[in-house]
Formats: sequence, C-alpha cells, structure tokens
Amino acid sequence: MASSPKRCAEAARPADAVALLAWFDGRRREVPWRGERDPYAILVAEVMAQQTRLETAVPFHRRFIDRFPDLHALAKADEDEVLRLWEGLGYYARARNLRRAARRVVAEYGGRLPETAAELRRLPGVGPYTAGAVASLAFGQLEPAVDGNARRVLARLADLETPTPSRLASDARNLLTGAPGRPGAVNQALMDLGSQVCTPRRPRCGECPLSTRCLARRRGTIARRPAPRRRGRSPERLEAAAVVDREGRLLVLRRPSVGLLGGLWDFPSVALGPTTTSETALSKGLREGFGLDCQVGVQMRVLRHTFSHFRLRLAVHRASWLSGEMPTEVVHRWARPAELSRLAFPIYHRRLIDRELSSPRDRRDKPGA
Ligand code: ADE
Repeated sequence: MASSPKRCAEAARPADAVALLAWFDGRRREVPWRGERDPYAILVAEVMAQQTRLETAVPFHRRFIDRFPDLHALAKADEDEVLRLWEGLGYYARARNLRRAARRVVAEYGGRLPETAAELRRLPGVGPYTAGAVASLAFGQLEPAVDGNARRVLARLADLETPTPSRLASDARNLLTGAPGRPGAVNQALMDLGSQVCTPRRPRCGECPLSTRCLARRRGTIARRPAPRRRGRSPERLEAAAVVDREGRLLVLRRPSVGLLGGLWDFPSVALGPTTTSETALSKGLREGFGLDCQVGVQMRVLRHTFSHFRLRLAVHRASWLSGEMPTEVVHRWARPAELSRLAFPIYHRRLIDRELSSPRDRRDKPGA
C-alpha cells in the first residue's frame, strides 16, 4: 500500500500539473500535430513517435497525411504503399496495424475513431500508450500516456527504482486531475520535460518546474532513477544477400507479412555459419531454396544494421541468373531498377539501392524526394 499515490506524500500531486503546464506553455517542442484537432492525425503521430524521436517523425507524418488524409483513405490503401511511406521509421508492424485499425474503424465505427481509451485499445496495434495519448490529446479524456520520457520524470519525482506500469499510470492520473481541462497538454508536458530537461544523463534540474518536489533530487538518487534496464550487447547475425540480375531485372522477394520487417521487399539472403563463405552459401541457397542456378560474383558491400535485439552484418554480392524459374508460390518480382523506388525495403537496402542500383531519375520517384 505504501506505493499508493493517495498515501504516498511524494507521488506526483495534482498541484504539480499547474507548474508543469506553465513550463510547457513556454518551452514545448513545436511539432505540426500540436494544436491538431483531427483525431486521425493525432493517432498517426502517436504511432509514429513510438520508438522514434519526435522530430524524426515530422516529415514522415506530413507525407503520410498528405497521401492518406483520413481513415477512409488509409482503409483503402495498398499495404505496399503504406509500408513505402513508413520506410525508415522501422517497426513495420506498426504501419500494417495502423492500416488494419483504419479498416476496422471504417467498418465498425463509420470512419470515426472511438473516444475512450478502452475502445481504442481494441483496435489492432493500439496499446495503453497510444490509447491514452489519443484519448487525452484528441478527446480530452483524463487518461495517462506514459512513454519512456514521462516514465523517467515520474520515477524521479517519487524516487522509484523500478516503477510498475500501474504505479506510473496512477501517478500520471493524479497529475491529470490537477488540470482537468488539459489532459493532452499534461501528458505531453511530462514527455517533453523528460526529453528536454529530465534527461537520462546530466538532467538540468535548475530548469525543472518540479525540482523542489523531486524526491530523487533530494535524496541524491537521480542518476539511478529509474534503474537502467540492463541489456547485454546484442548478438551479431551474419548473413549474405544476392542482387541477382536477369537481363537487367533484379530478383526481389516479399517477406512474410508477420515477423521481422514483415511485408517489406528484400533481396534473397542466407544465414552464414562461422566458416562458410558467402559465395558458396548464396549459390547453394539460391539453388536449394528456389531452383535457380546463379553465378555469384564479388562482394559489393557489407551492410550493417542494428535491430532491437540483434545486430545484422550482411555481405551483399552481385549475382547473374543462369537458369531456373522461381517457384510461383514464392512472392517475388524480377524488377527493373526503377521499380525498386516504389517498393518498401528495409532501410539498409534502400541505401544500397540508392547508391548502387538506381539512376538519379529513379531516386526522384521516392516519397518525399
Ligand atoms: N512522444 C510521443 N508522442 C509525444 C507527444 N505527443 N509529445 C511529446 N512526446 C511524445
């Protein structure tokens, strides 16, 4: 019971919302969807801004809303086009789920987003954060939206080492009751404070509107609050990929729609053992996996990409098709280089395509180019 906000004198208090909002009104980050009333634009922004810096999401949001201005447009969208506009943001399941959510809202709610966090949570891909953010920002509901930045602020305020989601939600709710007319602003103020002032390292407590209330500051535990989630160095995966050329067309495969980079296009690739050479592994993989005989040539590049749970090291080789036909059950295309600009690829392949496989004219087809 000691952690219940009603009993714990140090938890965020409703009165703190006033100081927080005064700070926010003077110092908030300007992003285009602040001041936005359209719940759909807010939903898209909040889904994009997860695991992505707010500023990074801005151009993606603008292009997305230009192309799909409302839920009806997104519900009718081709998944490839949605993924292409998402390319570079990562976590592609979010894009696929957003499209599925749009279809659900059109089918079940006539194209208007439901207003309560409980109903929003029933939509594909909408978790507690997104539901709380949309309910509070778009519909003025007193619902918490605690991202990693808000979590740090709340944990330090109450000096919590490992705050549970329910404790964070109840502290945030407490704050929201201090400014019942502006729940969206209170939620965003907490997030902005965490990203700009109450930073993980070297927080600027002198600029913090809540510093006199901060228990971790008084106790000298700020650097340890919240306790870092210990992650070891992620393992490295070695793979090789082939850019197979058949009379000027390149073989691309569509990844399964569920799982890592689901629904994106890719060049055929194989996992490498510690001793196999990439040429041998690719020739064998293309023959055994797809019935293609190819001449695998020299390495073009080594691409590296860090995913949330592993690091990829990908040796990319040029290859020439000699014989064999792709099985029809494998979703694939022999694409002209210009077509590659319309398909969604993992970002490390996009860089390869832009640098090595397409002409400047093809690059002008890119969204946002
Ligand atoms: N992170 C995600 N959405 C945000 C928002 N609306 N304000 C501040 N930080 C955010």
